Amino acid sequence: MGRSSKDKRDIYYRLAKEEGWRARSAFKLLQLDHEFNLFTGVNRAVDLCAAPGSWSQVLSRKLRARGEKGEKGDGGEEVKIVAVDLQAMAPLPGVTQIQGDITKVSTAQEIIRHFEGQPADLVVCDGAPDVTGLHDVDEYIQAQLLLAALNITTHVLKPGGTFVAKIFRGKDVTLLYSQLKIFFSGVTCAKPRSSRNSSIEAFVVCQNYSPPDGYVPNMSNPLLDHSYDVDFNQLEGPNRVIVPFLACGDLSAFDSDRTYPLQLDDGKQYQYTPPTQPPICPPYQQACHLRKNNLLSREDAPSACPSQSPHEPEPPAEST
Ligand SMILES: C[S@@+](CC[C@H](N)C(=O)[O-])C[C@H]1O[C@@H](n2cnc3c(N)ncnc32)[C@H](O)[C@@H]1O
Repeated sequence: MGRSSKDKRDIYYRLAKEEGWRARSAFKLLQLDHEFNLFTGVNRAVDLCAAPGSWSQVLSRKLRARGEKGEKGDGGEEVKIVAVDLQAMAPLPGVTQIQGDITKVSTAQEIIRHFEGQPADLVVCDGAPDVTGLHDVDEYIQAQLLLAALNITTHVLKPGGTFVAKIFRGKDVTLLYSQLKIFFSGVTCAKPRSSRNSSIEAFVVCQNYSPPDGYVPNMSNPLLDHSYDVDFNQLEGPNRVIVPFLACGDLSAFDSDRTYPLQLDDGKQYQYTPPTQPPICPPYQQACHLRKNNLLSREDAPSACPSQSPHEPEPPAEST
């Protein structure tokens, strides 16, 4: 059988490979869609922080599957999907890639150019910074990334459109909800079954984009600053925004914190499936290469990416 220890550890990691998803995160978007019907009427979608691409795969399969020859969406309009990431991503059918930074206005302009001036119906963002392990720092950077995604969304989303983004339910969360409520009439915090209970990760599902009258999108709106606690996070009474929290995904779905036997179906023999599409030269690849080859202490150590086959990096799907 071989190479099964990681498979045993995480059912969604394993299913992702078996169903051909690039990362286990695909199930998070599928379960959010199951609860919120995110894809109905969507012809133009943006996937921010998309690599290695499982959310783009979900968008591609779901939106393009609806129409003739898989290329037209609801109402016969052409489906357009744009995926943005700092990192390169292997190509996907019907998905245009922009290798760029979501904190840059030039990225917003590039998305708009691709949609030929038409606004997007849906923006999703599963963005995560490289985690440091220092929880306060990680939560802060995650919140900044979410606000950068919100900023870019105000440039590209149509009124009435939907924005879905990963959020860490840390101490900034009240301020984040307040900022989201300025732009969307419906804000829900949702936890898909495939997101581990042990993780503070959840997703904000923001519906009915309705910016304040006269709002002009710009990329320099204030993000979180050091005094936010005084001004926002201690809001009380009617000023304190409390958003509904929803555990979503079919309750009979697999629990991401449990370990399951390898053989799920009676009478079927388990077979190892390799990852569908590892990321192309991710930032951690160099470190893994140095550690594996005992080169960590050598200053002249060669770079991992040019020599390493793109089919053999460390398994990435478990962390996404
Ligand atoms: C958890 S992964 C996304 C997984 C993806 N949703 C999937 O399903 O395959 C987070 C991604 O955020 C990207 N990212 C972080 N900061 C970014 C930024 N400022 N601009 C663009 N992408 C960024 C990282 O490069 C990384 O690929």
